[in-house]
Amino acid sequence: MRISIFGTGYVGLVTGACLAEVGNDVVCMDIDQDKVDALNRGEIPIFEPGLEGLVQRNAETGRLRFSSDAAETIRHGEILFIAVGTPSDMDGSADLRAVLSVARTIGRELTESQLVVTKSTVPVGTAEKVRASIIETMAETGASRFTPRVASNPEFLKEGAAVKDFMAPDRIVIGVDDPQSESQLRRLYAPFNRNREKIFSMDIASAELTKYAANAMLATKISFMNELANIAERVGADIERVRIGIGSDPRIGYHFIYPGVGYGGSCFPKDIRALARTAADHDHQARILQAVETVNQKQKLRLFEKVSLHFGNDLAGRTIALWGLAFKPETDDMREAPALVLMEALWEAGAKVRAFDPKAMPETRRICGEREDLTLVAEPYAALEGADALVVVTEWKAFWSPDFERIKSLLSEPVIFDGRNIYDPQDLALLGFRHEGIGRRATLPETAAEKSGIAASGH
Ligand SMILES: NC(=O)c1ccc[n+]([C@@H]2O[C@H](COP(=O)([O-])OP(=O)(O)OC[C@H]3O[C@@H](n4cnc5c(N)ncnc54)[C@H](O)[C@@H]3O)[C@@H](O)[C@H]2O)c1
Repeated sequence: MRISIFGTGYVGLVTGACLAEVGNDVVCMDIDQDKVDALNRGEIPIFEPGLEGLVQRNAETGRLRFSSDAAETIRHGEILFIAVGTPSDMDGSADLRAVLSVARTIGRELTESQLVVTKSTVPVGTAEKVRASIIETMAETGASRFTPRVASNPEFLKEGAAVKDFMAPDRIVIGVDDPQSESQLRRLYAPFNRNREKIFSMDIASAELTKYAANAMLATKISFMNELANIAERVGADIERVRIGIGSDPRIGYHFIYPGVGYGGSCFPKDIRALARTAADHDHQARILQAVETVNQKQKLRLFEKVSLHFGNDLAGRTIALWGLAFKPETDDMREAPALVLMEALWEAGAKVRAFDPKAMPETRRICGEREDLTLVAEPYAALEGADALVVVTEWKAFWSPDFERIKSLLSEPVIFDGRNIYDPQDLALLGFRHEGIGRRATLPETAAEKSGIAASGH
């Protein structure tokens, strides 16, 4: 099929590359000329596992092309996807300017046989707004008049596993209001629907809400566990034991119940706010969503509070080493990353930051600029040089089994703040560290006598 995609970000680029991979003829359009030029040179503007090879391979076959020419892109596709950003507006609602601007552009050239699909995460009613914008442009430009076909096809890929998720999705949600659009989308997705039925066809409003419901549920799980972690700390329980204890109930399950430093990224924060806003616009106060957001904002400061307390609430002149900056592993995305909140608080308190992230350092530099209280280093251990403490913010695999002796020799004091609970507190105590996780009691370094006691009792 001939496919056009507007917006070449995480979603548009992955969608385009994956649809080309199964034989479609895809044109991806973006208003960012630098991005289009880079893609045409074979450079991928984001880090996403498996994406680079996929894009290059399909670009070489000619099945995947990049353009900044909207008119050409509209004429190309049987199906036109809108995959532009929908950031938070001032009042928390989804900013639909980019979506509706694409819709108006599409209205200039659209023909009756084409289908327009919103893939961006958009509030209920947006597909209808897209249809209305297209009709408006048609009226203004005197183009042929017909009722455009629109559909909703929200995207559920996860950054860090986006290609895998697109190629082997859990579900493909399509919101349609006519049989032709449904069969067109079913044909498009047939290659991804072989293993079992994954296509869930529904009305457009339900499809639009499904995406928000999914993200709201996931964000709620995170904030719930962070709330529990804070309770655990106060009552002397270990949230990791509690997590295992509750996860064994199949109604709860082990997925996505890790306490940590709060959720970030380009989706959860803005989608929770947008859904709460939608609810408010319809005279409903979404109390759970408001609490999820509030808990998350507080949680993003938890590591700072722990570091600050450890140093007697005086961080002036201290140097703190950070491992991990991206909002999660396997991405370079820094949007709403907890590391940004932590760094701001540390700087405000007069501390310096030395940081390492396997992929997100260029993006961090772009956001934070050159400043003397931020040093980005080329490898993890270099972050520890002259530092007073290590803070693990993002659980990249490379941080799970480090050389603790080396860490100890580099830090001025052997203390680790483990924002993702990736280390065993007892092991670290035996190695001579103070360890502070999330939702667990801080452990102190074992003294030599205690160590020998433990060793003796082990025999
Ligand atoms: N990133 C994710 O993990 C993810 C997952 C599922 C859904 N979504 C949703 O998908 C949408 C896109 O997200 P993203 O992360 O890919 O965004 P992004 O910011 O990475 O990319 C958006 C792209 O759209 C381009 N753009 C803006 N206006 C345009 C226009 N008028 N014409 C053409 N291109 C235009 C921008 O230049 C940018 O390259 C959002 O609604 C988001 O909520 C994102």
